[in-house]
Amino acid sequence: MTELLHNPQKMTKAQIELKQVFGKGGTIKESDISKLSYIQAIVKEIFRLHPPVPFLIPYKAQKDVEFCGYHVPKNAHIWVNVWAIGRDSKVWSNPILFSPERFVEREINVNGRNFELLPFGAGRRICPGMPLADRIVHLILSTLLHSFDWKYCDGISSKDIDVEEKFGITLQKARSLPAIPLLNR
Ligand code: HEM
Repeated sequence: MTELLHNPQKMTKAQIELKQVFGKGGTIKESDISKLSYIQAIVKEIFRLHPPVPFLIPYKAQKDVEFCGYHVPKNAHIWVNVWAIGRDSKVWSNPILFSPERFVEREINVNGRNFELLPFGAGRRICPGMPLADRIVHLILSTLLHSFDWKYCDGISSKDIDVEEKFGITLQKARSLPAIPLLNR
């Protein structure tokens, strides 16, 4: 919601998609998510820029490993910095730019097979809650955008909206988002 308020033209584009698929009003169901390609792109872009678990959960090497020119000793704790991968200019063009369109053009999923986007991790330790979490995020975001128009506190322009994060095991916003919903029915 913060990135969309910061980039209001992207929010409008998402609301137009929702209106085209559902008309005005109506309840969005889980089975509708596949019809919402731009909303899906927004969720991927958010997982890229603001991964909720920025270092995954630590791994431990079971034996000495040579990997990409590095020696990883047995028992080393490994932190995978997916936050940094999401902002790496060798992987993404214009990485700091919020641009869901990059996922409309590229077929990339969050299921642990595309190493440039691993918000749920990968391999045997991949998040077992992924199917639930991914659905709920799409459903809540779509419902918020379809049921309401949104504005920020009076007097603050979209460009000044604060997207800063606070690091931890899970990533949080540094400051909460004072957004105001306006019923649009
Ligand atoms: C957007 C929401 C969520 C995100 C981004 C997320 C992300 C992650 C990540 C990155 C890991 C570590 C995976 C790895 O190290 O490769 C993880 C592990 C885990 N997640 Fe989630 N998760 C989410 C929601 C959920 C939900 C809803 C549940 C349960 C219903 C859940 C249960 C777990 C469990 C049990 C583990 C530990 C798995 C293990 O180490 O064997 N997560 N999650």
